[in-house]
Amino acid sequence: MEAELLGPPEDLKGKQVLEIGAGAAQCSRWLAAQGAHPVALDISHRQLQHALRIGGAFPLVCADAGALPFADASFDLACSAYGALPFVADPVLVLREVRRVLRPGGRFVFSVTHPIRWAFPDEPGPEGLSVSASYFDRTPYVEQDDEGRAVYVEHHRTLGDRVRDVVAAGLRLVDLVEPEWPAWNTSEWGGWSPLRGNLIPGSAIFVCVRD
Ligand SMILES: C[S@@+](CC[C@H](N)C(=O)[O-])C[C@H]1O[C@@H](n2cnc3c(N)ncnc32)[C@H](O)[C@@H]1O
Repeated sequence: MEAELLGPPEDLKGKQVLEIGAGAAQCSRWLAAQGAHPVALDISHRQLQHALRIGGAFPLVCADAGALPFADASFDLACSAYGALPFVADPVLVLREVRRVLRPGGRFVFSVTHPIRWAFPDEPGPEGLSVSASYFDRTPYVEQDDEGRAVYVEHHRTLGDRVRDVVAAGLRLVDLVEPEWPAWNTSEWGGWSPLRGNLIPGSAIFVCVRD
């Protein structure tokens, strides 16, 4: 938002924006406050219930980002904050779908946890600073329930894989932003902390254009 990767806030007014893997729809809420017309899409009905509870005057759509229920060229912009892409086995399918629903000239800005973090334990302290896995190991991370059913699956792609995915989907990559840990942020949560944030990037943000 502060980085204005979707464009200056004043240019968002009146724009049709698709948010992919919206979760509780924080981005759509912000976009609506700028005068944009967001649509928040998520595969999880429960996540969208949180979005509904928090509120916002924009549509919530329960659907798979790999099969977007929209006509071609229906949006000016699209965005995703850590949504959908890390959780699908075929990210090119999702990127192609986003390209399809964007109008020519439209931007897609998406963030993922920085791929380098895959190689480190997800711990905020010094134990989170030593490499414990191969950056090149694409075996997905899977959590199972008592019956052995997968309840959480995350797919690892290297930075190069992500760039190639964008290109394969026919989008043009115009920037790859690796935000630095802000000095004012002293909090720790999950694997996030100033200690790690000052040494290794936490997020990678891809800025793409549909020509
Ligand atoms: C890490 S959360 C991010 C949520 C929100 N964007 C945020 O920043 O808090 C990932 C979201 O992607 C959604 N998701 C996962 N796979 C998806 C898919 N194939 N299609 C659409 N949404 C998906 C999940 O349900 C979840 O809400």
